[in-house]
Amino acid sequence: MIQKQPLTTNGYYQERYRPHIHFTPEQMWMNDPNGLVYFEGEYHLFYQYHPDSKKWGPMHWGHAVSKDMIAWEHLRVALYPDDLGMIFSGSAVVDHKDTSGFFDGKPGLVAVFTHADGDLQRQSIAYSKDRGRTWVKYEDNPVIPNPGIKDFRDPKVCWHEDTEKWVMVLAAGRKVQFYTSPDLKQWTYVSEFGEGWGEQKGVWECPDLFPLTNEISGEKKWVMPIGIDAGAPAGGSGTQYFIGSFDGKHFVPHQPKDSVRWLDYGKDFYASQSFSDVPGRRVVLAWMSNWQYANDVPTDPWRSAMTIPRELTLTRVEGQELLIQKPVAELTNLIEKRMEKDPSLLKEKQSIELDQPASPFLWELDVEMEKDGAFEARLFGKQDRGLRVGIDREKNVIYVQRDGTDLDFSSEYACTCQAPLSGDLSSFHLKLVCDHSSVEIFLGDGEISMTNLYLPIADHEAKLKVEAVRGTLEVKRSSVFEMRSIWKPNA
Ligand code: FRU
Repeated sequence: MIQKQPLTTNGYYQERYRPHIHFTPEQMWMNDPNGLVYFEGEYHLFYQYHPDSKKWGPMHWGHAVSKDMIAWEHLRVALYPDDLGMIFSGSAVVDHKDTSGFFDGKPGLVAVFTHADGDLQRQSIAYSKDRGRTWVKYEDNPVIPNPGIKDFRDPKVCWHEDTEKWVMVLAAGRKVQFYTSPDLKQWTYVSEFGEGWGEQKGVWECPDLFPLTNEISGEKKWVMPIGIDAGAPAGGSGTQYFIGSFDGKHFVPHQPKDSVRWLDYGKDFYASQSFSDVPGRRVVLAWMSNWQYANDVPTDPWRSAMTIPRELTLTRVEGQELLIQKPVAELTNLIEKRMEKDPSLLKEKQSIELDQPASPFLWELDVEMEKDGAFEARLFGKQDRGLRVGIDREKNVIYVQRDGTDLDFSSEYACTCQAPLSGDLSSFHLKLVCDHSSVEIFLGDGEISMTNLYLPIADHEAKLKVEAVRGTLEVKRSSVFEMRSIWKPNA
């Protein structure tokens, strides 16, 4: 374990904007989650890491482990750049049957990643025989040479039961390619998908591929989230997904070519990856930033956080198949104090104020709105500044408005993002996960999520506020749960 040093006079993980229920490195730059895998009672989180700077640079894999995906213990850097280049994004799997021959017949961990040398990107592997504590790079790397494609990276590997082969999906320009392997060492190209499909405004990055059973129809489907580095609905980088079938070689989408589904409608949800080998559920987490300003977010001595891990399920709403996201149940173990507000009826333009809870906190809000009504909830801000989330039934949208900070670090920071509502509901349930510098919003059962950084202005005496913007609003429930920090000083 790394010896934890107090990083500032404020104490360990107590700096301004430091998340208390989200993963952040102790210091320096982080981007994508990598190698998410569950093995022998531990969840592993590797991440794109630059240990020498708060800006992106020569990429390493940082490493942390957790028993519950919520509280993390920092470990040593797992993979360093070498003669083949920097260590870009990738995944990890448990090689249960020792198909690779690395583990003397026992199960072990294999990491699959991109070696990036200038513009040359190739896929390589490494293995660990000691529960991820030390890693050996395979002597015959790279295992997939570059086929003449500039953007050729971010391999995600899974075991395909029916064909009894490893399957890799990786980003190749504005599409993905599939490879298969019997042993994680020899890979055969089998197909590609994506030319002209979905959102094409940016380069595709960090694809994922996993089966989920539709909880309504009982059908097994394959879900493929894919990042795009530009052109997301909130601007900049974002994550789309496809649902389809996959026979171990070919992905067939079950949607029209030009339709686009978004995993999250906020500004700060990118490079999502699901954990491999978690029994009975599919959990993703993402990098909570946006390439538009990631290198400039004014935090110190670290830069960037991961989202809360989210459990995914597949369902059908209004005739459309879609993914549902919920913060993992383990998060509620952090709850320390519950604050309820009596139900209230607000006439148009009326509002109620609640004391601002200490961050981090969860806020559950149930409202009933008139046809064509609109409501807005404000967090952290004062008067007309802050972070607002609203539902407008006339426009049929849920939106988040993020006002500027006192630190003017990017013209892309102040923004409004929105998601279309489906159906004609009058009751809405919102769950907001609020930390010192982010707000993750889940609508209904989690059919829409919106993830945004939010850097509160220092001297605001903030209150939570709910306002009937148009029409009468019934606030049926407001429950706030204060939570304890996952970071313990020098524990
Ligand atoms: C996505 C990404 C990946 C790449 C990594 C480099 O954020 O651009 O495509 O592997 O970051 O750090």
